[in-house]
Amino acid sequence: MTTRPSIQAFFDDATGTVSYVIADPTSRCAAVVDPVLDFDLRSGRTRTVQAERLLAWLREQGLTVQWILETHAHADHLSAAHWLQQQVGGRIAIGEHIREVQATFKKLYNLERGFLPDGTQFDHLFKDGERFHIGELPAQALLVPGHTPADMAYVVGDAVFVGDTLFMPDVGTARADFPGGDARTLYRSVQRILALPPKTQLFVCHDYPPNGRAPAWETTVAEQRAGNIHVRDGVTEQEFVAMRQTRDATLDVPTLILPSIQINIRAGQLPTPEDDGVSYLKIPLNVLGKAQN
Ligand SMILES: [Fe+2]
Repeated sequence: MTTRPSIQAFFDDATGTVSYVIADPTSRCAAVVDPVLDFDLRSGRTRTVQAERLLAWLREQGLTVQWILETHAHADHLSAAHWLQQQVGGRIAIGEHIREVQATFKKLYNLERGFLPDGTQFDHLFKDGERFHIGELPAQALLVPGHTPADMAYVVGDAVFVGDTLFMPDVGTARADFPGGDARTLYRSVQRILALPPKTQLFVCHDYPPNGRAPAWETTVAEQRAGNIHVRDGVTEQEFVAMRQTRDATLDVPTLILPSIQINIRAGQLPTPEDDGVSYLKIPLNVLGKAQN
């Protein structure tokens, strides 16, 4: 008998991010995927409004959190993994290639010596294909790089949490121009997901609804293969790469990339407070984005 996970989505209007609680109805064990820590860039203040919605649900449903799963080091929002772990426990996990992302950004931010790009900020680093459990539900981590070198998708029953690979069919795919990103690699990762059975349910990490449609996050392999504007059946790797690179060249640097990555490569912890007890973020000048021409 295969148990089906119960899945609850939480949409964050401010960043277009979808967080999930995946629960095993039998054991009442759960995993949280990509929790959001609210951040006001103007004041530099973090808030836990989104994360408290997750917490309320976990408590209401009487769920025991075993895992806090990050699909990757997000560039558009701060992770609430650390805050949530302090409230409910669970192991914070991400793909093992996070070490490469940490090394890249340690250099970019010229981070303190004490920040080690070894993944130890997380409780567990998944290898490609690694199997794990949420209660009695079998789950598997799949490496799907391209958007970043460390992206993982999480398969639970016939549901897949695809992170930033595919978006809804009318939005397409994630950008592949961040440090360590690669359009060709993203195409291959997307094909890995699209090779799953057509009825497989896919849960995306973001939605940026076009033309006034309501936010949505659930789709299927069949729907993506029939109608994804970037990677439907028939789009070749070469066509995809050309489209993705052309499009990425027009995209602005995400508003919260500099704060987000600094927190997210630390599994959602704020940087070590300085001698006044305050945590600071760094803003490298004239490093990201294009020089004026
Ligand atoms: Fe992302």
